Amino acid sequence: MKKIHLLLLASVCLAVACIKEPVLNETKKLSLNLPNQPDSYYDASFDSSLNHKAQLGRVLFYEKQLSLNNTISCGSCHKQAFAFADNERFSKGLENKRTSRNSPPLQDFSNVNLFFDDAEGPPNPIDLLPGFGGNEFFWDGRQNNLKDLILKPVANHIEMGINDVNMLIPKLNNLPYYKELFNKAYQSEEITLDKISDAVAVFIQAMNTNNSKFNKVMFNQVSFTGLEKSGFDLFFGKYPCGSCHQINPGSYFSGGFMNIGLDDKINDRGRAAIDNNSFNEGAFKTPNLKNIMLTAPYMHDGRFNTLDEVIEHYSTGIKMNPSLSPMLRDEKDFNAPRKMNVTNEDKKALIAFLNTLTDPVFVTDPKFSDPFVIN
Ligand code: HEC
Ligand code: HEC
Repeated sequence: MKKIHLLLLASVCLAVACIKEPVLNETKKLSLNLPNQPDSYYDASFDSSLNHKAQLGRVLFYEKQLSLNNTISCGSCHKQAFAFADNERFSKGLENKRTSRNSPPLQDFSNVNLFFDDAEGPPNPIDLLPGFGGNEFFWDGRQNNLKDLILKPVANHIEMGINDVNMLIPKLNNLPYYKELFNKAYQSEEITLDKISDAVAVFIQAMNTNNSKFNKVMFNQVSFTGLEKSGFDLFFGKYPCGSCHQINPGSYFSGGFMNIGLDDKINDRGRAAIDNNSFNEGAFKTPNLKNIMLTAPYMHDGRFNTLDEVIEHYSTGIKMNPSLSPMLRDEKDFNAPRKMNVTNEDKKALIAFLNTLTDPVFVTDPKFSDPFVIN
């Protein structure tokens, strides 16, 4: 009998320890300054409270209380070590439920307009010019306002499961550390959904990857090795990679929505489910390939584990289907898929070039790291 009591007591203690509120690291580690981004639309000189908003956004990004049972944060699926992508094919959400697509990286949103909203009215011309912004989020571009996107994963029943996002307000009001954070960011302790979305969007916009070798080469600070240079030339020359994947320093946007012939029968309609355009069946947003070495597995469904497999796909694996991109069809026979027949030597060079897109500073920068410590 006594033993049982002891056991009970022990398990109550354990439970208490488990639900003990996470405490914030010392303020020093928490401090977050937006990097000086010359091409950022909104830097701290535009709004002096931006750094405080980014800091609040960072805390919210790693806040597990944003999920129904306090187990999942944005950071559970968007992991810094992998450029805020997930290293799992499908991410684990609430109660181990899995997402239906692969988590994309979060990086280089600096040229994304946080206040942009083209839900009504004509498309913004900036949106139509590749390389000049592009407010199309998710693999199918279904969301065009970063701020409005923030609460979608919170409400998503697979991801964080808080159907009624208004529930967040009393939840966060119960946590002692938010009063000061909201006050600093918005000069008022009041917690609102709009402020939550705004702060997380400002944090995400601060996550810029400027320290890859590729960036430094583009700014003439270092040079490619011979192999990297030939990979660069192949990517933008002999092979059509660069016609779709435009890789611009400091830019989120890469290319349009393309069907790259992953399947002969489409099972995820991708962009077509959003715009009903039959050319877009199985078409997905062209990723910008920054930090590509770190963001495996690859494609909207994480089907490839290595870059070798990805290049093998373009080399000999493209499958014919009615919406296959014209760029990936045989030059002479429109009804046959293109075979790039990438040589082993070229493959090595392509991978060496793609390797230069890795930014080791970004993925270890304490400014973007989890500020919660559980002790
Ligand atoms: C359970 C895993 C999971 C959680 C939790 C999660 N995400 Fe995601 N996120 C994903 C997946 C999967 C996608 C891609 C979905 C798609 O394209 O259909 C995605 C896409 C995104 C995108 C679009 C990126 C782009 O370039 O198009 C943003 C931004 C984003 N998430 C932010 C967040 C924020 C902010 C949170 C927390 C409030 C969050 N995510 C929580 C899995 C998750
Ligand atoms: C017709 C446009 C197009 C061309 C040409 C093209 N790609 Fe892609 N690429 C895409 C699209 C679109 C995706 C995402 C497809 C999906 O997930 O369904 C993609 C995905 C990728 C990925 C995985 C990205 C990720 O984050 O999962 C890599 C790596 C890649 N491409 C490299 C290349 C290389 C190397 C070449 C040249 C040999 C090339 N691509 C040619 C459009 C293109």
